[in-house]
Amino acid sequence: MFRSIKQWCIGALSTVFVVGAFDSFAATPDGGALFKAKCATCHSPHKDGTGPKLFHVREKWAAEGAKEGSIYQWVANWNAAAAADPYAKKISGLKSTAMNTFPDLAGKTEEIDAIFNWVDEQPDPSAGPANGQSVAAGAAAEEVEEDSLSWVWILMGVVFVVIIMAVGGVRRQLRNATREHDGQSVDDDLSFGQEFKAWAWKYKSYVGLGGLVITFSLIVSLFLSLYSIGVLEDYQPSQPIEFPHDIHAGKNGIDCKYCHNSAIDGKTAGIPTVNVCMNCHKQINGNTPEQQEKIAKIYAAAGYDPATQKYSGKTKEIIWNKVHVLPDHVYFNHKQHVVAGQVDCKQCHGDMTKMNETAKVQPVSELNKVEGNVPLTKATLTMGWCIECHAEKEISSGSLDSKGSNYYNEMHNRLLKDRKLYNKFLEDKKITVKELGGWECAKCHY
Ligand code: HEC
Ligand code: HEC
Ligand code: HEC
Ligand code: HEC
Ligand code: HEC
Ligand code: HEC
Repeated sequence: MFRSIKQWCIGALSTVFVVGAFDSFAATPDGGALFKAKCATCHSPHKDGTGPKLFHVREKWAAEGAKEGSIYQWVANWNAAAAADPYAKKISGLKSTAMNTFPDLAGKTEEIDAIFNWVDEQPDPSAGPANGQSVAAGAAAEEVEEDSLSWVWILMGVVFVVIIMAVGGVRRQLRNATREHDGQSVDDDLSFGQEFKAWAWKYKSYVGLGGLVITFSLIVSLFLSLYSIGVLEDYQPSQPIEFPHDIHAGKNGIDCKYCHNSAIDGKTAGIPTVNVCMNCHKQINGNTPEQQEKIAKIYAAAGYDPATQKYSGKTKEIIWNKVHVLPDHVYFNHKQHVVAGQVDCKQCHGDMTKMNETAKVQPVSELNKVEGNVPLTKATLTMGWCIECHAEKEISSGSLDSKGSNYYNEMHNRLLKDRKLYNKFLEDKKITVKELGGWECAKCHY
């Protein structure tokens, strides 16, 4: 009887861990993550932006007479929804820009609901004086919830171990009692550890399986947590001046290097000083009051009075918040990529000429739309991202020095001395960054 209890315990313990491990994969869709990955570029819960605010939007559609289910169709393909539902048609004329389509969300009512549920849970930052606090409290509550969740697993594990040990203890006492009764010697000298060893040996297949499951779960959760550490996709800090890249680099065609000139001859790309802004903005003070207000901040920083056209000498540095950040132990060099590797800014930063907000870390889903980029799956700015590109990215097609600069000549000559290695590199008809050392730890780590 006790044997079966023990087996039951082991079974339950394994189930707990297996469920725990798979839970992380097959969890209900994470609305917050989906929203941030797909919708946050245009929508926020409580503020109109490129797209309208989404707080309680399902209720709005229902109240204003949209067809049932039409909102789900809208999210996947607003065109199709507008064709089928007059209300959706009306909404499609709301803004001058069109919404993206999300074919991957077609029919995924559960995921879309998760997004809306998350949106509806967000506290309104402009509601009442406790605003900042309530948002912070919300975030904190979320963290606590996640924390306590992992505590639940640990606690359950401990409880099961205790049960197993207790059952083992009771069993030993009972066995000793029966032995005494039968007049046999009592093996009290067998320590708990020895007893456990004997027991583990007897049920080695269960113990082995349990151990395997536990190890597997630990590894899986370790990997998952490592992957989510420092993921910066969509990071968009607020900036002292709402600087639009599309107006400058897009509409007015200013070259990236005009402002980020050290990208071609240095490690960092650099952010322009206010003097660079003044090269143009001494003349351009904006057409609309909105523009003038923003440009006035440049004047304040430069200590320039547009009325008298004089500098007062009292300057105030504009402190831009850094958007793309790598940890200190990583070495990244712009010149190596932009000049030697001929990688376009777009491939890592997305198309900044269309960016009408301040800069942000583009998610790989955006980077994958860039022509010429290798298909990426790992989050931008993570190690996986760097090495995924290095694994696939071709340094050169045809002659190795075809890029014009003589950078690859030296490698070319070295490789010609080792035809065997050269031919091995060229097995897939191309030479990748990885093959020339782009996967060596020391190249990226100090
Ligand atoms: C490229 C910008 C963009 C993205 C990304 C985007 N939307 Fe939209 N969305 C819009 C615009 C613009 C509208 C307004 C309708 C119009 O003018 O076409 C809109 C309208 C909506 C509406 C109707 C709002 C209302 O007030 O009735 C819903 C619901 C919606 N979007 C959901 C989503 C969801 C969910 C996602 C993410 C899966 C998403 N959108 C991603 C731009 C976007
Ligand atoms: C007129 C000057 C100007 C031009 C031209 C310009 N930028 Fe910028 N860029 C800025 C300023 C100012 C910032 C800081 C504000 C911000 O982060 O939005 C910035 C920020 C950035 C950032 C984020 C920096 C960080 O902190 O991580 C990237 C990436 C970037 N620019 C890329 C580009 C690319 C690519 C181009 C060309 C398509 C370009 N820029 C053209 C002025 C310029
Ligand atoms: C191979 C990918 C890649 C390419 C190509 C690339 N960048 Fe970057 N960029 C990065 C990374 C990674 C960072 C963060 C660097 C750090 O924190 O040390 C960054 C940071 C920046 C910054 C912030 C300031 C700084 O130097 O840290 C600016 C501005 C910028 N890049 C502009 C550009 C421009 C302009 C181009 C094209 C001429 C370009 N980048 C090409 C990956 C790239
Ligand atoms: C090469 C010329 C040039 C440089 C350099 C330049 N700008 Fe501009 N900027 C423009 C032009 C052109 C406009 C568009 C004015 C218009 O639409 O009438 C503009 C518009 C703006 C606007 C108003 C955008 C809006 O919301 O409509 C801001 C803010 C701005 N610039 C900030 C900056 C900052 C900050 C810098 C320095 C980092 C800078 N600019 C450097 C040419 C320049
Ligand atoms: C879009 C593709 C792409 C991404 C993303 C990328 N790289 Fe690179 N990287 C290249 C190319 C192409 C070269 C080849 C230039 C050369 O031969 O040195 C290169 C070369 C390098 C080198 C020199 C390797 C050598 O053999 O000398 C280092 C170091 C490096 N990258 C670091 C990084 C780091 C760190 C990141 C992530 C933060 C990163 N790269 C992301 C494309 C990329
Ligand atoms: C192409 C560049 C590149 C190469 C090659 C590379 N790393 Fe990294 N590594 C990075 C970047 C970028 C990060 C920072 C990731 C982040 O912040 O999410 C990182 C982070 C790490 C971390 C911290 C854990 C983490 O995920 O943040 C460790 C440990 C590490 N690397 C070990 C290695 C080892 C060991 C090798 C050699 C087998 C190696 N790296 C090769 C770019 C590289």
